[in-house]
Amino acid sequence: MSQVVLIQGSLNKESRTAVLVQHAEEELKRAGLGVSVLDLRNLQMEFCDGRSLKEYHPDMQKAFQAMDNAQAFVIGMPVYCYSVSGPLKNFIDITSGAMEKKIAGILCNAGGKQSYMASADLSNILAYESHVTTMQPIVYSSYEDYDDQTLTSDKVKSKIRELMDHLARQLKNYS
Ligand SMILES: Cc1cc2nc3c(=O)[nH]c(=O)nc-3n(C[C@H](O)[C@H](O)[C@H](O)COP(=O)(O)O)c2cc1C
Repeated sequence: MSQVVLIQGSLNKESRTAVLVQHAEEELKRAGLGVSVLDLRNLQMEFCDGRSLKEYHPDMQKAFQAMDNAQAFVIGMPVYCYSVSGPLKNFIDITSGAMEKKIAGILCNAGGKQSYMASADLSNILAYESHVTTMQPIVYSSYEDYDDQTLTSDKVKSKIRELMDHLARQLKNYS
């Protein structure tokens, strides 16, 4: 059972959200936490239409179970149209019941520097639907923070570390 489930929310083969998630995973392991990653690229996911969980693909049922067993989440969100990408929102629509009253960190990845408020949409969705508390700082990266698939920004790296340390401290306080 993992204490923290990291959700990689991009379907792009060359996703940079996935790069952020990988850095976050390393930081959480360094902090001694049990972690697992749900990468949306590896899941068979139907559109959410309100059916019961057992009628979705077994991948979604396993994802729900892993999240139900976890204490916290880190959600990597690609920014689409100044908000949460459609596939990630769909994933949350199916699995929000497994997040009830837990804590989460947000890793927000965009093309430009101006879309940072997109993370507030995710924070609101989590708070209103599942009473999830979003930890600070929210991490934000854009094209200029990367060299191809390598994260080059020390500022973003240190934000990831700060957020993961915060998450780890909160989890140690709970246990
Ligand atoms: C449909 C679509 C909408 C996008 N909208 C925005 C946007 O509103 N603001 C922005 O800064 N970047 C936007 N982008 C750029 C993506 O955020 C960027 O490509 C990012 O790297 C996506 O994450 P990924 O690499 O993990 O897939 C958009 C990209 C797509 C494909």
